[in-house]
Amino acid sequence: MDRTIVLIGFMGSGKSTLGRRLAHRMNRSFVDLDQYIESKHQLSVSGIFEQFGENQFRLWEREALLEVLQQENAILAAGGGTPCFSDNMEQMNQQGLTVYLYLEPAVLLHRLVHTPNIRPAVKGMNPEELAAFVKQKLEERSPYYEQANLQIDALNLNFDRVLEMIAWSMRTSR
Ligand code: S3P
Repeated sequence: MDRTIVLIGFMGSGKSTLGRRLAHRMNRSFVDLDQYIESKHQLSVSGIFEQFGENQFRLWEREALLEVLQQENAILAAGGGTPCFSDNMEQMNQQGLTVYLYLEPAVLLHRLVHTPNIRPAVKGMNPEELAAFVKQKLEERSPYYEQANLQIDALNLNFDRVLEMIAWSMRTSR
């Protein structure tokens, strides 16, 4: 059984897009953690934030993460905040192979400005607020993200190179 490959990184870094592509090429199943939580609880992520608050979301997210890590041959796109709650990052590193999709704050901001309302964490923010949020959150979250087994420049992404790096990392880590 091969370890789950877990894609981590800020909202808008392209985890789901890359995850789907990798799953297709590597003949693995693809799981988007937000979607997994939504179908498990029959509620959208926004609905969970609104009705139960972020802390409850994080607890459900952790529970879902531990379940998905048990699956065989999966590619998992985590949520932007997943690595930063409890010992989630340690669990992902112990049970899976983690890949951090890195992007500069300015690029993330540009992407988020164009899809601001689908994400509860940034809902209703104007561009200035969003810029401050991205800068601050990325600073807070980077120490977690940087614990990943692999770091990938998500802007100049070369898909075949990513596949090679993952294969190499699978062989050499652990
Ligand atoms: C969040 C990111 C979202 C989702 C939730 C909270 C965050 O996932 O889990 O809205 O705190 O960064 P994506 O990174 O897939 O957008």
